[in-house]
Amino acid sequence: MLVLGIESSCDETGLALYDTSRGLLAHAVHSQIAMHEEYGGVVPELASRDHIRRLIPLLERVLAEAGAGRSDIDAIAYTAGPGLAGALLVGSGFAEALAFALTVPALPVHHLEGHMLSPLLSADPPRFPFIALLVSGGHTQLMRVAGVGAYELLGESLDDAAGEAFDKTAKLLGLGYPGGPALSVLAREGTPGRCKLPRPMLHSGDLDFSFSGLKTAVLTAVRARELSPSERADLAAEFQEAVTEVLVTKALAAVRQQGLDTLVVAGGVGANQRLRQRLDAGAQKARIRVHYPELELCTDNGAMIAFCGARRLQLGQRPEGGGAFAVRPRW
Ligand code: KG4
Ligand code: ZN
Repeated sequence: MLVLGIESSCDETGLALYDTSRGLLAHAVHSQIAMHEEYGGVVPELASRDHIRRLIPLLERVLAEAGAGRSDIDAIAYTAGPGLAGALLVGSGFAEALAFALTVPALPVHHLEGHMLSPLLSADPPRFPFIALLVSGGHTQLMRVAGVGAYELLGESLDDAAGEAFDKTAKLLGLGYPGGPALSVLAREGTPGRCKLPRPMLHSGDLDFSFSGLKTAVLTAVRARELSPSERADLAAEFQEAVTEVLVTKALAAVRQQGLDTLVVAGGVGANQRLRQRLDAGAQKARIRVHYPELELCTDNGAMIAFCGARRLQLGQRPEGGGAFAVRPRW
Protein backbone atom coordinates (compact mmCIF):
# COMPACT_ATOMS: atom_id res chain seq x y z
CA MET A 1 0.00 0.00 0.00
CA LEU A 2 1.43 3.35 -1.09
CA VAL A 3 0.44 6.21 1.21
CA LEU A 4 0.88 9.89 0.41
CA GLY A 5 1.47 12.02 3.53
CA ILE A 6 0.71 15.73 3.64
CA GLU A 7 1.83 18.10 6.41
CA SER A 8 0.83 21.78 6.41
CA SER A 9 0.04 22.64 10.04
CA CYS A 10 2.45 25.55 10.41
CA ASP A 11 5.37 26.90 8.38
CA GLU A 12 6.53 23.77 6.58
CA THR A 13 4.90 22.10 3.60
CA GLY A 14 5.88 18.44 3.74
CA LEU A 15 4.93 15.64 1.35
CA ALA A 16 6.08 12.03 1.39
CA LEU A 17 5.35 8.61 -0.05
CA TYR A 18 5.50 5.66 2.32
CA ASP A 19 5.11 2.12 1.09
CA THR A 20 4.00 -0.43 3.68
CA SER A 21 6.32 -3.09 2.29
CA ARG A 22 9.21 -0.99 0.93
CA GLY A 23 9.35 1.81 3.53
CA LEU A 24 9.83 5.52 2.93
CA LEU A 25 10.24 6.06 -0.83
CA ALA A 26 10.45 9.85 -0.99
CA HIS A 27 9.94 12.92 1.13
CA ALA A 28 10.28 16.62 0.48
CA VAL A 29 9.84 19.65 2.71
CA HIS A 30 9.59 23.30 1.83
CA SER A 31 10.35 25.54 4.80
CA GLN A 32 8.84 29.04 4.94
CA ILE A 33 11.43 30.30 7.43
CA ALA A 34 12.94 32.83 5.03
CA MET A 35 9.49 34.25 4.27
CA HIS A 36 8.45 34.75 7.91
CA GLU A 37 11.88 35.84 9.13
CA GLU A 38 11.38 39.57 8.63
CA TYR A 39 8.19 39.45 10.77
CA GLY A 40 9.93 37.69 13.66
CA GLY A 41 7.39 34.83 13.63
CA VAL A 42 4.90 32.91 11.52
CA VAL A 43 2.27 35.07 9.75
CA PRO A 44 -0.71 32.69 9.40
CA GLU A 45 -2.17 34.18 6.20
CA LEU A 46 1.20 34.13 4.43
CA ALA A 47 1.73 30.55 5.60
CA SER A 48 -1.59 29.41 4.07
CA ARG A 49 -0.89 31.10 0.75
CA ASP A 50 2.55 29.59 0.53
CA HIS A 51 1.24 26.08 1.24
CA ILE A 52 -1.08 26.54 -1.77
CA ARG A 53 1.89 27.43 -3.96
CA ARG A 54 4.04 24.50 -2.82
CA LEU A 55 1.69 21.51 -2.67
CA ILE A 56 1.49 20.54 -6.35
CA PRO A 57 5.22 21.02 -7.14
CA LEU A 58 6.12 18.99 -4.03
CA LEU A 59 3.68 16.25 -5.02
CA GLU A 60 5.29 16.05 -8.48
CA ARG A 61 8.71 15.92 -6.82
CA VAL A 62 7.98 13.03 -4.46
CA LEU A 63 6.21 11.08 -7.21
CA ALA A 64 9.24 11.51 -9.51
CA GLU A 65 11.63 10.57 -6.71
CA ALA A 66 9.64 7.41 -5.95
CA GLY A 67 9.26 6.57 -9.64
CA ALA A 68 5.49 6.51 -9.15
CA GLY A 69 2.44 8.08 -10.76
CA ARG A 70 -0.66 9.54 -9.12
CA SER A 71 -2.63 6.38 -9.89
CA ASP A 72 -0.19 4.35 -7.75
CA ILE A 73 -1.35 6.18 -4.60
CA ASP A 74 -3.54 3.87 -2.49
CA ALA A 75 -4.37 6.27 0.36
CA ILE A 76 -3.69 9.80 1.57
CA ALA A 77 -2.91 10.85 5.14
CA TYR A 78 -2.96 14.51 6.10
CA THR A 79 -2.42 16.57 9.23
CA ALA A 80 -5.85 17.63 10.49
CA GLY A 81 -4.56 19.35 13.65
CA PRO A 82 -3.37 20.85 15.87
CA GLY A 83 -2.00 23.87 14.03
CA LEU A 84 -2.96 27.06 12.21
CA ALA A 85 -6.55 26.76 10.93
CA GLY A 86 -5.91 28.26 7.50
CA ALA A 87 -2.72 26.29 6.94
CA LEU A 88 -4.44 23.05 7.98
CA LEU A 89 -7.36 23.79 5.63
CA VAL A 90 -5.02 24.07 2.65
CA GLY A 91 -3.51 20.63 3.31
CA SER A 92 -6.80 18.96 4.16
CA GLY A 93 -8.65 20.49 1.21
CA PHE A 94 -5.90 19.36 -1.14
CA ALA A 95 -5.78 15.88 0.39
CA GLU A 96 -9.53 15.33 0.30
CA ALA A 97 -9.85 16.65 -3.26
CA LEU A 98 -7.02 14.46 -4.54
CA ALA A 99 -8.42 11.44 -2.69
CA PHE A 100 -11.84 12.08 -4.24
CA ALA A 101 -10.31 12.32 -7.70
CA LEU A 102 -8.29 9.12 -7.24
CA THR A 103 -11.12 7.33 -5.36
CA VAL A 104 -8.81 6.44 -2.47
CA PRO A 105 -9.37 7.02 1.27
CA ALA A 106 -8.09 10.22 2.96
CA LEU A 107 -7.21 9.84 6.63
CA PRO A 108 -6.90 12.79 9.04
CA VAL A 109 -3.83 12.44 11.28
CA HIS A 110 -2.92 14.11 14.59
CA HIS A 111 0.29 16.06 14.08
CA LEU A 112 1.76 14.99 17.43
CA GLU A 113 1.04 11.34 16.80
CA GLY A 114 3.07 11.76 13.63
CA HIS A 115 5.98 13.20 15.63
CA MET A 116 5.67 10.50 18.27
CA LEU A 117 5.83 7.62 15.80
CA SER A 118 8.57 9.20 13.65
CA PRO A 119 11.44 7.29 15.35
CA LEU A 120 9.82 4.09 14.02
CA LEU A 121 10.97 5.23 10.56
CA SER A 122 14.63 4.90 11.52
CA ALA A 123 16.87 1.95 10.65
CA ASP A 124 16.87 0.71 14.26
CA PRO A 125 13.30 1.38 15.42
CA PRO A 126 12.18 1.20 19.08
CA ARG A 127 9.88 -1.60 20.23
CA PHE A 128 6.60 -1.06 22.08
CA PRO A 129 5.97 -0.27 24.87
CA PHE A 130 8.04 2.85 25.34
CA ILE A 131 7.93 6.30 26.89
CA ALA A 132 7.75 9.21 24.46
CA LEU A 133 9.06 12.65 25.30
CA LEU A 134 7.25 15.00 22.93
CA VAL A 135 8.92 18.38 22.73
CA SER A 136 7.61 20.67 20.02
CA GLY A 137 6.74 24.33 19.65
CA GLY A 138 3.24 23.79 21.02
CA HIS A 139 3.56 20.76 23.34
CA THR A 140 5.70 19.22 26.03
CA GLN A 141 4.34 15.84 27.02
CA LEU A 142 5.40 12.50 28.44
CA MET A 143 3.39 9.57 27.08
CA ARG A 144 3.32 5.88 27.67
CA VAL A 145 3.04 4.32 24.22
CA ALA A 146 1.85 0.71 24.25
CA GLY A 147 1.25 0.57 20.49
CA VAL A 148 -0.15 2.60 17.61
CA GLY A 149 -3.19 4.39 19.04
CA ALA A 150 -2.55 3.21 22.62
CA TYR A 151 -1.32 6.33 24.39
CA GLU A 152 -1.46 7.36 28.02
CA LEU A 153 -0.56 10.91 29.01
CA LEU A 154 1.73 10.82 32.07
CA GLY A 155 2.60 14.49 32.35
CA GLU A 156 2.77 17.73 30.39
CA SER A 157 3.64 21.39 30.57
CA LEU A 158 1.23 23.42 32.65
CA ASP A 159 2.07 26.57 30.69
CA ASP A 160 4.57 27.20 27.84
CA ALA A 161 5.89 24.31 25.76
CA ALA A 162 9.67 23.78 25.74
CA GLY A 163 9.97 24.96 22.12
CA GLU A 164 7.84 28.00 22.88
CA ALA A 165 10.13 28.85 25.81
CA PHE A 166 13.15 28.54 23.52
CA ASP A 167 11.49 30.80 20.94
CA LYS A 168 10.37 33.45 23.44
CA THR A 169 13.73 33.49 25.24
CA ALA A 170 15.54 33.81 21.92
CA LYS A 171 13.40 36.84 21.14
CA LEU A 172 14.30 38.40 24.51
CA LEU A 173 17.97 37.88 23.67
CA GLY A 174 17.49 39.63 20.34
CA LEU A 175 17.82 36.47 18.24
CA GLY A 176 15.82 35.86 15.10
CA TYR A 177 13.09 33.35 14.25
CA PRO A 178 13.02 30.41 14.68
CA GLY A 179 14.47 30.96 18.10
CA GLY A 180 15.30 27.42 19.23
CA PRO A 181 18.12 26.69 16.81
CA ALA A 182 19.46 30.29 17.09
CA LEU A 183 19.54 30.11 20.88
CA SER A 184 21.33 26.77 20.88
CA VAL A 185 24.02 28.23 18.58
CA LEU A 186 24.55 31.21 20.93
CA ALA A 187 24.59 28.85 23.94
CA ARG A 188 27.68 27.14 22.50
CA GLU A 189 29.66 30.34 23.08
CA GLY A 190 28.53 30.67 26.70
CA THR A 191 29.09 28.88 29.99
CA PRO A 192 26.12 27.61 31.97
CA GLY A 193 26.08 28.41 35.70
CA ARG A 194 27.69 31.86 35.47
CA CYS A 195 24.24 33.35 35.88
CA LYS A 196 21.77 31.18 37.74
CA LEU A 197 18.30 30.33 36.44
CA PRO A 198 15.71 28.16 38.23
CA ARG A 199 14.94 24.51 37.34
CA PRO A 200 11.11 24.77 37.41
CA MET A 201 9.28 21.78 38.93
CA LEU A 202 12.42 19.67 39.01
CA HIS A 203 11.43 18.27 42.42
CA SER A 204 7.64 18.45 42.02
CA GLY A 205 7.37 14.67 42.35
CA ASP A 206 5.16 14.40 39.26
CA LEU A 207 5.84 14.34 35.53
CA ASP A 208 4.54 17.82 34.73
CA PHE A 209 6.58 20.77 33.52
CA SER A 210 6.46 24.55 33.65
CA PHE A 211 8.61 26.79 31.48
CA SER A 212 7.01 30.23 31.56
CA GLY A 213 8.80 31.24 34.79
CA LEU A 214 12.14 30.53 33.16
CA LYS A 215 11.33 32.93 30.36
CA THR A 216 10.32 35.57 32.94
CA ALA A 217 13.64 35.06 34.78
CA VAL A 218 15.47 35.74 31.51
CA LEU A 219 13.32 38.83 30.97
CA THR A 220 14.27 40.13 34.43
CA ALA A 221 17.99 39.56 33.72
CA VAL A 222 17.76 41.28 30.33
CA ARG A 223 15.88 44.28 31.77
CA ALA A 224 18.18 44.72 34.79
CA ARG A 225 21.01 46.21 32.72
CA GLU A 226 22.70 46.15 29.32
CA LEU A 227 24.30 42.70 28.90
CA SER A 228 27.63 42.20 27.16
CA PRO A 229 27.75 39.71 24.27
CA SER A 230 29.46 37.13 26.49
CA GLU A 231 26.85 37.61 29.23
CA ARG A 232 24.10 37.05 26.67
CA ALA A 233 25.81 33.82 25.60
CA ASP A 234 26.10 32.72 29.24
CA LEU A 235 22.40 33.41 29.75
CA ALA A 236 21.52 31.39 26.63
CA ALA A 237 23.72 28.51 27.84
CA GLU A 238 22.16 28.57 31.30
CA PHE A 239 18.64 28.68 29.85
CA GLN A 240 19.37 25.68 27.63
CA GLU A 241 20.89 23.87 30.60
CA ALA A 242 17.86 24.55 32.79
CA VAL A 243 15.35 23.30 30.17
CA THR A 244 17.36 20.22 29.28
CA GLU A 245 18.00 19.31 32.93
CA VAL A 246 14.28 19.29 33.72
CA LEU A 247 13.37 17.44 30.51
CA VAL A 248 16.03 14.77 31.02
CA THR A 249 15.29 14.22 34.72
CA LYS A 250 11.54 13.81 34.19
CA ALA A 251 11.83 11.71 31.03
CA LEU A 252 14.14 9.22 32.75
CA ALA A 253 11.89 9.24 35.84
CA ALA A 254 8.91 8.37 33.62
CA VAL A 255 10.72 5.38 32.10
CA ARG A 256 11.68 4.13 35.58
CA GLN A 257 8.25 4.74 37.06
CA GLN A 258 6.59 2.71 34.29
CA GLY A 259 9.12 -0.10 34.59
CA LEU A 260 10.23 0.26 30.96
CA ASP A 261 13.64 0.50 29.32
CA THR A 262 13.03 2.52 26.17
CA LEU A 263 12.63 6.26 25.62
CA VAL A 264 11.65 7.92 22.37
CA VAL A 265 12.24 11.62 21.81
CA ALA A 266 10.26 13.50 19.16
CA GLY A 267 9.40 17.04 18.07
CA GLY A 268 11.51 20.02 17.06
CA VAL A 269 13.33 20.47 20.38
CA GLY A 270 14.53 16.87 19.99
CA ALA A 271 17.00 18.28 17.46
CA ASN A 272 18.78 20.12 20.30
CA GLN A 273 22.27 18.67 20.63
CA ARG A 274 22.70 19.51 24.32
CA LEU A 275 19.42 17.74 25.13
CA ARG A 276 20.65 14.67 23.24
CA GLN A 277 24.02 14.73 25.00
CA ARG A 278 22.46 14.89 28.46
CA LEU A 279 19.79 12.31 27.65
CA ASP A 280 22.33 9.88 26.24
CA ALA A 281 24.57 10.27 29.31
CA GLY A 282 21.68 9.88 31.78
CA ALA A 283 20.15 6.97 29.88
CA GLN A 284 23.42 5.09 29.66
CA LYS A 285 23.78 5.22 33.44
CA ALA A 286 20.20 4.04 33.93
CA ARG A 287 20.51 1.35 31.20
CA ILE A 288 17.77 2.96 29.17
CA ARG A 289 17.79 2.99 25.36
CA VAL A 290 17.00 6.34 23.74
CA HIS A 291 15.66 6.58 20.19
CA TYR A 292 15.51 9.73 18.11
CA PRO A 293 14.00 10.28 14.70
CA GLU A 294 16.49 10.92 11.90
CA LEU A 295 17.55 14.56 12.30
CA GLU A 296 15.70 15.63 9.15
CA LEU A 297 12.49 14.07 10.53
CA CYS A 298 12.70 15.91 13.88
CA THR A 299 10.99 19.02 12.62
CA ASP A 300 7.73 19.01 10.65
CA ASN A 301 7.59 16.71 7.63
CA GLY A 302 5.21 14.64 5.53
CA ALA A 303 7.01 11.34 6.16
CA MET A 304 5.76 11.04 9.74
CA ILE A 305 2.20 11.77 8.59
CA ALA A 306 2.36 9.19 5.77
CA PHE A 307 3.79 6.61 8.18
CA CYS A 308 1.21 7.30 10.89
CA GLY A 309 -1.63 7.11 8.36
CA ALA A 310 -0.25 3.86 6.93
CA ARG A 311 -0.07 2.21 10.35
CA ARG A 312 -3.60 3.27 11.21
CA LEU A 313 -4.95 2.02 7.87
CA GLN A 314 -3.14 -1.29 8.46
CA LEU A 315 -4.93 -1.50 11.81
CA GLY A 316 -8.20 -1.25 9.92
CA GLN A 317 -9.04 2.37 10.63
CA ARG A 318 -11.05 3.92 7.81
CA PRO A 319 -11.96 7.57 7.26
CA GLU A 320 -15.54 8.58 7.85
CA GLY A 321 -15.76 9.37 4.15
CA GLY A 322 -18.17 11.48 2.18
CA GLY A 323 -15.47 13.91 1.12
CA ALA A 324 -16.38 16.29 3.94
CA PHE A 325 -13.56 17.35 6.20
CA ALA A 326 -12.96 19.42 9.27
CA VAL A 327 -9.64 20.62 10.60
CA ARG A 328 -9.04 20.70 14.34
CA PRO A 329 -6.64 23.59 15.11
CA ARG A 330 -6.74 22.90 18.87
CA TRP A 331 -7.00 19.11 18.71
O1 KG4 B 1 8.00 19.97 16.01
P1 KG4 B 1 8.25 21.31 15.46
O2 KG4 B 1 9.02 21.43 14.19
O3 KG4 B 1 6.91 22.06 15.22
C1 KG4 B 1 5.83 21.96 16.09
O4 KG4 B 1 5.05 20.98 15.94
O5 KG4 B 1 5.74 22.83 16.98
O6 KG4 B 1 8.96 22.13 16.62
C2 KG4 B 1 9.32 23.45 16.46
C3 KG4 B 1 9.97 23.92 17.74
C4 KG4 B 1 10.26 25.41 17.73
O7 KG4 B 1 9.84 25.96 18.96
C5 KG4 B 1 11.78 25.47 17.58
O8 KG4 B 1 12.33 26.63 18.15
C6 KG4 B 1 12.20 24.22 18.30
O9 KG4 B 1 11.24 23.25 17.93
N1 KG4 B 1 13.56 23.77 17.90
C7 KG4 B 1 14.61 23.76 18.73
C8 KG4 B 1 15.72 23.31 17.97
N2 KG4 B 1 15.29 23.07 16.71
C9 KG4 B 1 13.97 23.35 16.68
N3 KG4 B 1 14.72 24.08 20.04
C10 KG4 B 1 15.92 23.96 20.60
N4 KG4 B 1 17.03 23.55 19.96
C11 KG4 B 1 16.99 23.21 18.66
N5 KG4 B 1 18.09 22.81 18.03
ZN1 ZN C 1 5.57 19.64 14.72
